[in-house]
Amino acid sequence: MHQSALLGMLALAAVTTALPSSPFSPSPRPGSEASITNLKQKIKNVVLLCMENRSVDNLLGGQTHKGIENSINNGPFCNPYNVSDPSQGFHCSQAKDYDSVTNDPSHAVTGNTMEFYSQWTPDNTAIAEGRLRPNNNGFITEQIHNYGANTNTTELALQVMNYYTEQQVPVMTSFVQNFLTFNHWHSDVAGPTDPNRFALVSGTTHGHGTNLGTDYTFLLPQMSIFQALGEKNISWLNYWDTAGGTGPDSKAFTWTLESGNENKTVPVTQFYTDALSGNLPTFSYLNPSCCGVGTTSMHDSGLVSDGEAFLKKVYESLRAGPQWENTLFILTFDETGGFHDHVPPPLAPRPDNLTYTEKAANGLEYTYEFNRLGGRIPTFLISPWINEGEVEQFGLNSFGETVSYCASSVLRTLGYLWDFEPFNPRVEWAPSFDHLIQHTARKNVISTLPTPVTFTDY
Ligand SMILES: *[C@@H]1O[C@H](CO)[C@@H](O)[C@H](O)[C@H]1NC(C)=O
Ligand SMILES: *[C@@H]1O[C@H](CO)[C@@H](O)[C@H](O)[C@H]1NC(C)=O
Ligand SMILES: *[C@@H]1O[C@H](CO)[C@@H](O)[C@H](O)[C@H]1NC(C)=O
Ligand SMILES: *[C@@H]1O[C@H](CO)[C@@H](O)[C@H](O)[C@H]1NC(C)=O
Ligand SMILES: *[C@@H]1O[C@H](CO)[C@@H](O)[C@H](O)[C@H]1NC(C)=O
Ligand SMILES: *[C@@H]1O[C@H](CO)[C@@H](O)[C@H](O)[C@H]1NC(C)=O
Repeated sequence: MHQSALLGMLALAAVTTALPSSPFSPSPRPGSEASITNLKQKIKNVVLLCMENRSVDNLLGGQTHKGIENSINNGPFCNPYNVSDPSQGFHCSQAKDYDSVTNDPSHAVTGNTMEFYSQWTPDNTAIAEGRLRPNNNGFITEQIHNYGANTNTTELALQVMNYYTEQQVPVMTSFVQNFLTFNHWHSDVAGPTDPNRFALVSGTTHGHGTNLGTDYTFLLPQMSIFQALGEKNISWLNYWDTAGGTGPDSKAFTWTLESGNENKTVPVTQFYTDALSGNLPTFSYLNPSCCGVGTTSMHDSGLVSDGEAFLKKVYESLRAGPQWENTLFILTFDETGGFHDHVPPPLAPRPDNLTYTEKAANGLEYTYEFNRLGGRIPTFLISPWINEGEVEQFGLNSFGETVSYCASSVLRTLGYLWDFEPFNPRVEWAPSFDHLIQHTARKNVISTLPTPVTFTDY
């Protein structure tokens, strides 16, 4: 059994571990003039797609590619059935997981806190001072707390601990083998979907920590990527799946209404035709549909295979279109969705002075200060300018610190590409990835991805 606690050593923001040597030629320093110049020369269009609720150890847990720390390469990883009573036994990660996981694991702020800290209301001072570190031991406990009464607990344990094999997710496997995968990329917020989506496009949730109970339409006052580009007359569109369920994220911001940019939300079907006809804007932001069978986001209640079919269509449209040669496709997820991951999330600077408070399952109030990241999420860079099969480990931020990547790394990098300043201290801290764009384009990049497979049971 791997004791996750040992990995707590990695929990501090600055990481001193020796990095695995890379077979690829050395890159320029991220954020350097040479690197930014190269980025601007090669990349004219960015496509950003944020899927739903999956951790690295869950979705990419069965990828045997070297450099990805996951269940099959480094596991199995084990969690107790009850963090307060180890005599109830353990479940260790194994292949395989369900195409659709019917008991949606908790990803509320305090559910997430149980999953990573084995308690719902940990001591925030101890966390901030580095004395209390996540042990990633509470995933099964939280799942049983939410569903245990009427459910087979073995099944609950394997829902959150098990992983997908390379054969179950052939489209993902193809991305891993053909493009770049981040090994240490975390969600910005240790909480649910909406806050993480806001953080991805604006660097902060503006103090929000929940999906439910709030209508976010045009509510958020902070600067977003949509406003930053709008003010520079850089074209953007928010393509969304009209079946709904996520976003459209551009419509969460007050600016979008006040500046008359509501009509930049268009159906995702238009994305395929725009890509094929060379009419994509400079920045394309895609919202998949959620949640349940037939939706495309890979949310656990939907089918992973439906998500794969969507990714295949997005990729193949880009690849066949005339803008492919200068496109960077960033594929990421919003948060871990309550699925186990063994890497403790690091601390990170607060984006602003806002906090979020909710009542935890133990009846106590817990205040999240937005000073630590969520779990690892799968993130890929896809472009002819990206090395084949590269795995990126830690980033180097503009303060010279070697740290984990996070959702705000997207805004940090796009700021270099399109000349906007970091929106807040979190974005300023986040390591950029401009240096991963190469100087020569690859020829013969794969044009057709494998056909997704459905699997009713395992
Ligand atoms: C977990 O163990 C504690 C301590 O023995 C016990 O009080 C609690 O009821 C257990 N929880 C479950 C869900 O079994
Ligand atoms: C996953 O995303 C859906 C849709 O936004 C949300 O309802 C659900 O609560 C999320 N799951 C977790 C664990 O946050
Ligand atoms: C609980 O689920 C496991 C895994 O699917 C299965 O092997 C076991 O038979 C189930 N137990 C009961 C009592 O249904
Ligand atoms: C953007 O376009 C508008 C309308 O054409 C113009 O008034 C404004 O100066 C432009 N802004 C920038 C930053 O180019
Ligand atoms: C939005 O409306 C403006 C003003 O009518 C128009 O110029 C623009 O083309 C529209 N954009 C889209 C994406 O429909
Ligand atoms: C937080 O509040 C302090 C004290 O008012 C202020 O100095 C600081 O600039 C604020 N930080 C941010 C990120 O707004």
